[in-house]
Amino acid sequence: MSRRPIVVGNWKMNKLPSEAAAYIKEVGPMLVQYEGVDTVLAGQDVLLDAMVYAARNTPICIGAENVYWEDRGAYTGETSPAALADLGIKMVIIGHSERRNYFRETDEMVNLKTLAVLRNGLMPIVAIDEAVQLESSNDHAHWIVNQVVESLKGVTEADMANVMLAYEPTAAIGSGQAMSPEIAQKSLWIIRQTVADMFNQAVADNLRILYGGSVKPTNVYDILSQPDIDGVLVGDAALDASTFIELVSLAE
Ligand code: G3H
Repeated sequence: MSRRPIVVGNWKMNKLPSEAAAYIKEVGPMLVQYEGVDTVLAGQDVLLDAMVYAARNTPICIGAENVYWEDRGAYTGETSPAALADLGIKMVIIGHSERRNYFRETDEMVNLKTLAVLRNGLMPIVAIDEAVQLESSNDHAHWIVNQVVESLKGVTEADMANVMLAYEPTAAIGSGQAMSPEIAQKSLWIIRQTVADMFNQAVADNLRILYGGSVKPTNVYDILSQPDIDGVLVGDAALDASTFIELVSLAE
């Protein structure tokens, strides 16, 4: 089973609109040579218009970092998935561990957002985290399985062609210490088996699953060498344009 590798840079809340445009102008032409890998940059809402504009005629796909689950209405300050689609956004990160932990997003909210994104023709990258110290490997597996099942409730088999999942162990995020690729692989295997149980083996085989947490040029090759890890979700290392290009080159 060959799944196309993907590198997603998540800028979080770190760039200004002028910096975003300059970065994409630098990176866009360089990425043309790496045809074997998909590249995504996700930015805060206020950057998205400038990002979409700068990424025209480049292989970079622009993603959002969050979304609300209603298309329109009196929800001051929220972002509509329909508006993201209209703007030219293709992907949305949903349920990032920072959303779950700092903003109290629950599995139910993640599920509503996932369905809303799919309804609007966008691709969700649903993040599965590991926020707590778990006593045993059974608890660990249960924690992961539960998030996958709850996040994907009501998603159809056809929808799954547009879904990606991302596994992010919280301790590895922003710490400089990635999880060992072999240990991460075990969690990704559990995620893929859960999807096979929910849908079928073909859906699971086609699903792209990403790893996130202190990915950098020195570890990306080993991480992507694991059989169930198809891509990476990168925070800090994606803030620098030349490092992002290096990551994409190593992912191909
Ligand atoms: O979305 C990205 C992840 O939270 C990983 O962030 O690469 O800074 O550890 P990081």
